[in-house]
Amino acid sequence: MDIASVLNKAIASLGNQGFATARIDAEVLLCSVLKKERTFFYSHPGEQLTEREREEYQQLIERRRHGEPVAYIVGIKEFWSLPFEVTRHVLIPRPETEILVEEVLKVCADGKVKNPRILEIGTGCGAISVSLASELKDAHIVATDISAEAVSVAMKNAHNNGVVNQISFLLGNLFQPVLGKFDLIVSNPPYISEEDYGRLPLEVQGFEPKASLLAGPDGTEFHRAIIREGIVYMESGGWLLMEMGAGQQHRMENMLKESHLYDSIAFRADYAGIERVSIARRVPADG
Ligand SMILES: C[S@@+](CC[C@H](N)C(=O)[O-])C[C@H]1O[C@@H](n2cnc3c(N)ncnc32)[C@H](O)[C@@H]1O
Repeated sequence: MDIASVLNKAIASLGNQGFATARIDAEVLLCSVLKKERTFFYSHPGEQLTEREREEYQQLIERRRHGEPVAYIVGIKEFWSLPFEVTRHVLIPRPETEILVEEVLKVCADGKVKNPRILEIGTGCGAISVSLASELKDAHIVATDISAEAVSVAMKNAHNNGVVNQISFLLGNLFQPVLGKFDLIVSNPPYISEEDYGRLPLEVQGFEPKASLLAGPDGTEFHRAIIREGIVYMESGGWLLMEMGAGQQHRMENMLKESHLYDSIAFRADYAGIERVSIARRVPADG
């Protein structure tokens, strides 16, 4: 069977299953089997697949048909134009999290923070810390996670992206393994409420780690803890930036204001218009 026929069959099979991304999924999975770019399929539609390649491809298509995300099947996801290895132990980094990276870069540039010391809570595959390190060559970053598997994936990604010397990885619950003070604390913590968790699509609920998603009855228990405890680890005038879920802005604003620990509170929406990132400054000592 040639590339065009194999692809068309796979697209139809995924399409029948209701996958809106059938074509791109089928193509990305074929790239992974043939170790070719997608453009190759258009320039060589008549190229024959070997029996082994066809079998391997069929197995990957079956995994996708059962709902497994493409990123887990191929083991890689692009974020901030960098390649990240992903396993079932880490959340697949989402495009909206790039807004958080953008905002951290803005705070560093606007505040002219030299040699920024940045703490990330809940690094997962390391997407945020590795991206920041790739942009801020003078930054030193401490990245934590409660999952040993996540820390090991993140370290590998830091190594593969050439920034391992800028990031220290720590294993532990929130701030428990952290020492010292930072100019910025950044986090994309779990933020799905118990009620919403049951409504997540199969690809998320059935495959991504629950500990990366679930955050108590209203989805803000990690934000609350980070707002309260983070203050100890932040320089006076330091910044706290966090990702949040749809509809959480009001609660976040209240938590930040009621703590009386932060000022300059702002929010940034993602490209779908959903308020996605909270930005707040620790009230300076003389403020
Ligand atoms: C939403 S994921 C974010 C992962 C990654 N930073 C990203 O943006 O793709 C949240 C991460 O927080 C970690 N986590 C959950 N509870 C934690 C805790 N108590 N202390 C530290 N990390 C925690 C999870 O293991 C997961 O890697």
